[in-house]
Amino acid sequence: MMFKIAIIGCGNMGMAFARSFLQYDLVSRENLLLVEKNKERCTILKSAKEGVVIHTVSPELKTYDLIILAVKPQDFDELATELKENIIDDQLILSIMAGITIKRIQERLDHNAVIRAMPNTPAMLGMGITGFTSAEGISIAKLFKVENLINATGRSIYLEDEKMLDAVTALSGSGPAYFYYFVKHMIEAGRKMGFDEGTAQLLVKQTMLGAYHLINNAELSLDELIAAVSSKGGTTEAALRIFNQNQLNDIIEEGILKAEMRSRELSGQ
Ligand SMILES: NC(=O)c1ccc[n+]([C@@H]2O[C@H](COP(=O)([O-])OP(=O)(O)OC[C@H]3O[C@@H](n4cnc5c(N)ncnc54)[C@H](OP(=O)(O)O)[C@@H]3O)[C@@H](O)[C@H]2O)c1
Repeated sequence: MMFKIAIIGCGNMGMAFARSFLQYDLVSRENLLLVEKNKERCTILKSAKEGVVIHTVSPELKTYDLIILAVKPQDFDELATELKENIIDDQLILSIMAGITIKRIQERLDHNAVIRAMPNTPAMLGMGITGFTSAEGISIAKLFKVENLINATGRSIYLEDEKMLDAVTALSGSGPAYFYYFVKHMIEAGRKMGFDEGTAQLLVKQTMLGAYHLINNAELSLDELIAAVSSKGGTTEAALRIFNQNQLNDIIEEGILKAEMRSRELSGQ
């Protein structure tokens, strides 16, 4: 029997998941239910024919094996009220909502089988990284099934301890924004030195791509890679001295730890 998947909230993340499943034939379009409240999005989704599109939660949800919750965290309580009446015990719930604990989902839905995942936006290109954890009592076979689905959006790690999802949120969930921030300011420095926007972007983006591949392919530590670019009294050293004088290292670490704390606050821990 074909596995049937329903996605509730078909915005950026919900559709990144939907499209990845379709791309790897993990579900067929007729077995993929897209529940989207937003009228405009709903119309666009209907014409794209990427799945069966409906506007609100309905009893037909009971025929789906997996229900993915991909609405914004602040929309969960309202959704839970409608959803509670339209799910059955056998079904698996996978939440990708930031900061909503398994316990809270279980309580609001009166449902035990909950898996919680924290993806990131490169999932849209199949290059995401997702941390996930699960409630007790879900079979290994079901967990593997969900892991295979998540892996269609990139890679994943299973975490025993749900609390580590706050760290995942701070590191890889928010991580793309840290990277964009650094890239943005490198491009701005390029502009100040006289490059036009396009040239500055090309120089910076190709540098980041090449450096990323060196991290993965050179048998050197990060310190050795830094040393390989920095000669004594040279240009890189001059830049790094300013970074260190201003404690950029501490600022980066402090920012990420603050993000973790914020994630904990949002989940009410
Ligand atoms: N973006 C990230 O980097 C990231 C990373 C990890 C996890 N997440 C999580 O992913 C979730 C979705 O984020 P997103 O960026 O994809 O949000 P989004 O683009 O706003 O998509 C959510 C969609 O769900 C719709 N919706 C709200 N209530 C609904 C309901 N009761 N039934 C059906 N549809 C409903 C929204 O409609 P309206 O617009 O009309 O409200 C919206 O179209 C969030 O919980 C977020 O925490 C995001």
